[in-house]
Amino acid sequence: MARRRMVYEGKAKILYEGPEPGTLIQYFKDDATAFNAQKHDVIDGKGVLNNRISEHIMTALTSIGVPNHFIRRINMREQLIRACEIIPLEVVVRNVAAGSLSKRLGIEEGTPLPRPIIEFYYKDDALGDPMVTEEHIVAFNWASQQDIDDIISLALRVNDFLSGLFTGVGIRLVDFKIECGRIWDGDYQRIIVADEISPDSCRLWDIKTGQKLDKDVFRRDLGSLADAYTEVARRLGILPEGGNGKRGPKLVH
Ligand code: C5P
Repeated sequence: MARRRMVYEGKAKILYEGPEPGTLIQYFKDDATAFNAQKHDVIDGKGVLNNRISEHIMTALTSIGVPNHFIRRINMREQLIRACEIIPLEVVVRNVAAGSLSKRLGIEEGTPLPRPIIEFYYKDDALGDPMVTEEHIVAFNWASQQDIDDIISLALRVNDFLSGLFTGVGIRLVDFKIECGRIWDGDYQRIIVADEISPDSCRLWDIKTGQKLDKDVFRRDLGSLADAYTEVARRLGILPEGGNGKRGPKLVH
């Protein structure tokens, strides 16, 4: 069988040509990176967990009419997605001060924000993904004002939905990042949610204890990342109680 063609390799995922035109296969690696890849490790089972968690979230978004790239999961590490033209922006939505917002503005981590705040970052590793404004986005033609309005309304819908989903399982959605892409239905362009939504791209804190259940565990050396992601998956009902999401045989008691 001919080896399939790789279309793109990122820090945590690989895209392969899909079985039909307009589709791609998204493969989730075990690699964890932070601080623009200055910190790197391989976390056994991370890719499997993110594949399942992103599937769960994207499927739920589809069910409430939020358009996204997910078609179906293929196996433990791969999912079939719609090919789209990625808009070169990271769209961050924040409910609670943390991370770079706390650092930049001197607001203590954990301070609730008066309203959800949306920020845009220009996707460019060489520049370290700088924050940009709507003015930059329109002036440099990364997206039109109409696109930006659509992206903001998608981001806020995702925020409302995810906040409820996570609150229901005892988790506070502090902030998250999405990426958006363009697809065409005939002459009409539509903007959809792409990439992934997982503990790699969200800040998730246990409501009762404040324990971090997201990539900050890796960024800040707070313990086992795989355990944190497994806990998120378990609470979302994706893994059977006690499952670890890893490949290989499981102990039978
Ligand atoms: O670091 P910062 O506070 O700006 O991150 C805000 C949110 O966006 C966090 O949930 C973080 O995990 C996510 N993010 C991401 N990919 C990046 C930068 C931030 O998923 N390149």
